[in-house]
Amino acid sequence: MAALPINTKVVVLLILGTSMVVFTIPAGKADDGLKQTIMSVYFHDHSSGSPDSTVRAVVGFPGKLWNLTQFGTLFVSDDPVTEGPDPESAPVGRGQGIFVTTSLDGVNTHVSLSIVFTNEACNGSTIQVQGNSDQMKAVREYGVVSGTGKFRYASGYVTFENFSFNSSISYAVIRCNISIRHY
Ligand SMILES: *[C@@H]1O[C@H](CO)[C@@H](O)[C@H](O)[C@H]1NC(C)=O
Ligand SMILES: *[C@@H]1O[C@H](CO)[C@@H](O)[C@H](O)[C@H]1NC(C)=O
Ligand SMILES: *[C@@H]1O[C@H](CO)[C@@H](O)[C@H](O)[C@H]1NC(C)=O
Ligand SMILES: *[C@@H]1O[C@H](CO)[C@@H](O)[C@H](O)[C@H]1NC(C)=O
Ligand SMILES: *[C@@H]1O[C@H](CO)[C@@H](O)[C@H](O)[C@H]1NC(C)=O
Repeated sequence: MAALPINTKVVVLLILGTSMVVFTIPAGKADDGLKQTIMSVYFHDHSSGSPDSTVRAVVGFPGKLWNLTQFGTLFVSDDPVTEGPDPESAPVGRGQGIFVTTSLDGVNTHVSLSIVFTNEACNGSTIQVQGNSDQMKAVREYGVVSGTGKFRYASGYVTFENFSFNSSISYAVIRCNISIRHY
């Protein structure tokens, strides 16, 4: 474990699994022992609607299509989350949650999602993501409102950005950057 050239307050460098580097540093004396954790993970989003999809529309208004741009459509997701963009890279956990198209014009979606860790270092811990964003934007940002296990009292934010998208099979690899403070 090498010393990190971030600043003199760096106390811990956790390596989760094989290659994902997670920085945990004290957030500062005023923050009462809070640590800051920053990591990037990758969601594998299969949304073709076939039975093995990891994202599916479950309900919407009668007489309307249940799609991403239709106000009132509710989706559920259970995406594999890995350390790298390759689906075969080390598993981190699952992205399990719901999201609803919540603007009448079909632009915004409200997300309520748990990142459920299953890797050795954080097994059983969760991060709770919640917020509303323009789903068409290249970078979507949501709040982190809480967490469990290693991430109790977490607060912060995440960004989601498509890393790759194969439209012929509706398969997106989405990078999720997590920045949180927690005890
Ligand atoms: C979604 O469904 C609505 C009708 O409910 C339709 O007007 C709209 O074009 C559809 N959007 C896409 C991207 O297919
Ligand atoms: C995570 O915890 C579950 C249940 O406690 C256990 O079955 C599983 O082997 C653990 N996974 C890892 C990677 O430690
Ligand atoms: C999309 O996926 C299909 C089926 O796996 C594959 O044949 C194709 O090469 C992929 N396209 C891109 C651009 O990766
Ligand atoms: C990003 O991925 C989502 C699927 O998760 C897809 O609906 C959207 O079209 C993709 N956006 C871009 C810009 O490729
Ligand atoms: C996410 O983190 C990676 C480094 O892991 C960085 O290259 C990328 O710019 C970050 N994305 C955003 C939206 O901040």
